[in-house]
Amino acid sequence: MRTLDDLDVSGKVVLVRVDFNVPQDQDGRVTDDARIRGALPTLAELREKGAAKLVLMAHLGRPKGERDPALSLKPIAARLGELLELDVPVAESLDPSALPDGEVVLLENVRYEAGETKDDPALAAQYAALADVYVNDAFGAAHRAHASTHGVATLLPSAAGRLLQREVETLHGILAAPQKPLVAIVGGAKVTDKIGVIDAFLDTADAILIGGAMCFPFFKAQGHAVGASLCEEDGVAVARRALDDAAAKGCRLLLPTDLVLGESFSADTTVTPLDGVDVPDGQMGLDVGPRTAEGYAAEIVAAGTVFWNGPMGAFELEPFAAGTKAVAEAVAACEGTTVVGGGDSAAALAQFGLESRVTHLSTGGGASLELIEGKTLPGVEVLS
Ligand code: 3PG
Ligand code: MG
Repeated sequence: MRTLDDLDVSGKVVLVRVDFNVPQDQDGRVTDDARIRGALPTLAELREKGAAKLVLMAHLGRPKGERDPALSLKPIAARLGELLELDVPVAESLDPSALPDGEVVLLENVRYEAGETKDDPALAAQYAALADVYVNDAFGAAHRAHASTHGVATLLPSAAGRLLQREVETLHGILAAPQKPLVAIVGGAKVTDKIGVIDAFLDTADAILIGGAMCFPFFKAQGHAVGASLCEEDGVAVARRALDDAAAKGCRLLLPTDLVLGESFSADTTVTPLDGVDVPDGQMGLDVGPRTAEGYAAEIVAAGTVFWNGPMGAFELEPFAAGTKAVAEAVAACEGTTVVGGGDSAAALAQFGLESRVTHLSTGGGASLELIEGKTLPGVEVLS
């Protein structure tokens, strides 16, 4: 993969694809700027190396070619401007002669363009006409073959930014040469979303710890009652196959042994601890229980390498946060290499104030999972 070490940027206009797809409050203010801060080292390096101008491009949400004002990048340009201590104007058009003045400018949401998600070559050519060279630092969007992440990279001298480089190197490192024991923690709602990751770790991990609602298809496959728990029907066969593979491969695939139940997905529901995993009718499992949390934490703390993706329960509801919190604290306490995938696990770490206590917190959700699964990311491959 070509990096900033391979690209001459001095005196050049540099087109930089970033992933600024960040959460906002009702007034548009950015509520988590980790992805914006993640791009700062690349922007600083390009400016230090004498780039004449940085033209940033990013997407927000999925406007599907419509100019939805709620998905404007203006609030994001404002936050970037604060971080850079610089005015960052937003360019409304792709006309090179209409680019605003300024050392750093941000193009309006690339997904306002109908051709963006189709990797339209004509749109890619319009992007390319804005600059001399192209840098992709949008790791979180590197699994998309879109005009701004893929097409344009074929038209200009191109390289990976430092964030994308670090993400790829760290995540590859876990697969290629992990310090043992390697422990993977896989949680979240759907086993079908995570089965590729589980499969990858069945070959490499010493233990896989399962949590979140995706444990219910496993329990159903084992013949347990799941009550009213969220249990993905398509997941049952997938879970059964994973259990068989784990047994055949000698990988320890661990499931919860106790749960915390509620009657509904809300913070004020009646909360009942369950010693065991057979969920009665009318109840749903919303967190792993304390014995499970303690057992998982012991595995995690003793690991040489940890990969964590997905919460153990409904951590956004206070009565069901303990399992995810125990895992987050164990990951923070582990002295080995700890890598946390983006999305919900990142939000959980932030909720418990532990973001700075892990080796690497990925800015990519889907992208980090696809990389772990061993898939080639179009936005990465095109830079090789
Ligand atoms: C993300 O937030 O997952 C990335 O920015 C990619 O966004 P997308 O899933 O809409 O392509
Ligand atoms: Mg996504």
